[in-house]
Amino acid sequence: MRSDVTLRPLDESLLRGLLDAAVADADPLEVMPPVEGPAGWTAERRETFVRFHRSRSLAAEPVGTTYAILVKEEVVGAARLLPLADAGRAVEAGVWIGRTHRGSGVGGAVLRQLLDLARAGGAQRLVASTTAGNTAAQRLLTTLGADLTRDGDAVTARLDLRDVD
Ligand SMILES: CC(C)(COP(=O)(O)OP(=O)(O)OC[C@H]1O[C@@H](n2cnc3c(N)ncnc32)[C@H](O)[C@@H]1OP(=O)(O)O)[C@@H](O)C(=O)NCCC(=O)NCCS
Repeated sequence: MRSDVTLRPLDESLLRGLLDAAVADADPLEVMPPVEGPAGWTAERRETFVRFHRSRSLAAEPVGTTYAILVKEEVVGAARLLPLADAGRAVEAGVWIGRTHRGSGVGGAVLRQLLDLARAGGAQRLVASTTAGNTAAQRLLTTLGADLTRDGDAVTARLDLRDVD
């Protein structure tokens, strides 16, 4: 397991680094909800990205927690935990990593730390959504012991945190 990967709760300073990492190294659709308009990192998409994170994670009453993923001191992506209101003690997890950092074990290190953070926050179950073609995400989740169910292109992973070491 990589030891140079850390998660830090997002703040305004990390948010600037996160936007830079997203623009340089990811497609908007991988890191934020769709925004109408021409492809790529338009000014509107950059503003929406920042607003999205401020409203979800940096607001007075955040809906969830977003973590900047750092490799050494470089921001390379984001991970989030979102409590699911009507599902007992379950949280939804999400991760994105910049393209140039994928496939080298960052995702595995992030997921392990996210599980620990979810448990420390009192969660008992973790849910994650991905797509049928996303082999890396599915491998990450099955390696941790998640059950995967498929509905068309959508894949839902469910993991009981009490069963994970
Ligand atoms: C999915 C994602 C988080 C995985 O992170 P990563 O750092 O690339 O993953 P890792 O390098 O830790 O690899 C995880 C596993 O997937 C495998 N893998 C990685 N890239 C792969 C690829 N392109 N095709 C097939 N398998 C792949 C690895 O071999 C590893 O399996 P192993 O543990 O059995 O060896 C990353 O690719 C990403 O950010 N993608 C875009 C956003 C996204 O899809 N998020 C997931 C939503 S839940």
